[in-house]
Amino acid sequence: MQLSRLMDTIPPYHFADAKKRIADRQAAGVDVITLSMGDPDLPAPEAVVERLCSAAHDPQNHRYPEYRGMRALHEAIAAWFERRFGVRLTPEQDILPLLGSKEGLAYAAMAVLNAGDVALIPDPYYTVYVTGSTSVGAQPYLLPLLEENDFLPDLSSIPADVLDKARVLWLNYPNNPTTGFAPRAFFEQAVELAHRHNLVIIHDMAYAEVYFADERPMSILQISGASDVAVELHSLSKTYNMAGFRMGMLVGNSTLVDAVGRLKSNVDSGIFRPIQYAAIEALNLPVTWIEQRNEVYKRRRDILVEGCNSVGMYARSPKAGLYVWARVPERFTSKEFANWLFDKTGVYLTAGSNFGKAGEGYVRISMTEPEERIQTAIDRIKTALQS
Ligand SMILES: Cc1ncc(COP(=O)(O)O)c(C=O)c1O
Repeated sequence: MQLSRLMDTIPPYHFADAKKRIADRQAAGVDVITLSMGDPDLPAPEAVVERLCSAAHDPQNHRYPEYRGMRALHEAIAAWFERRFGVRLTPEQDILPLLGSKEGLAYAAMAVLNAGDVALIPDPYYTVYVTGSTSVGAQPYLLPLLEENDFLPDLSSIPADVLDKARVLWLNYPNNPTTGFAPRAFFEQAVELAHRHNLVIIHDMAYAEVYFADERPMSILQISGASDVAVELHSLSKTYNMAGFRMGMLVGNSTLVDAVGRLKSNVDSGIFRPIQYAAIEALNLPVTWIEQRNEVYKRRRDILVEGCNSVGMYARSPKAGLYVWARVPERFTSKEFANWLFDKTGVYLTAGSNFGKAGEGYVRISMTEPEERIQTAIDRIKTALQS
């Protein structure tokens, strides 16, 4: 079968390969500790599961759903957004429910980029920013996220000729994988740049609700003038431990939201209604649900950060997100270390270089295992590094 030239540019998805490697080792009897994926191990809220089941019993919900989601879901998202960020969205125009935020990232790129445009992409990055941009013929221009800059891109360093051709600026805070946390001043600078250079900002906020500090992550739409130039993606995957449900949303600039809705309705046929009802239930939960869940992650974070620092894998304590971004011991590259550790201990971490060149020298460690398992992983890493 002769595949398209596009397929020459699409690599296998790292985590699909990783899942296979893990399954092979488990089949061989190894007790694998998977700290590589941001796949919440905690259950979705009970009320959400009950709503899903009750809605699934109604035959009306077995029919094709609405292409752009139920009105009641749009309203629940708008009410949640206003409570959480103090920003008022118009339910029908500024909001599009998605089958998880990942597809929205790819569609948003397709909706604004032309072949030959430049896409400004922070490095390290979530892979879809690159594949979404290159699949329509755009050229990535990578903006390194360095520890000394608190993992924020240096927007003032982008050359004028690059800015002339640039059409999209991707952002992702709280950041995966670096754990960077953007202050208001950074978002103000980005929105100002977008206005000045006619850029579209696609802000991926999948980790909005996993936070540990008093200061909660802010939405770019809180910045004045942002809705003229920006869209933002949210996700119920990490927010309510609903990764398998596949539910996210695109919010912000209504022209782009509408364009993604048009694209999507030509490709898929909407979200199973019981999942939409379950999402409404989740969005109406009190904030105490989020805070109690975040306490669990906070304890795991502390074990991980302390453990990493105790074995010489220096890591900052993140304010938000599901990961610790730790330096690999000097004698290894990221991939060498991740592979060596997996072979020796059964602990599976993600090599930082899987997220781009600037991720070299780091590993990403996820908090999605119980405390005892995280402690066991740290003990195994310690023993392996000492031997
Ligand atoms: C940075 C980032 N954005 C988006 C996603 C996609 O999330 P989902 O499609 O489950 O909403 C992920 C998932 O891991 C992520 O890490």
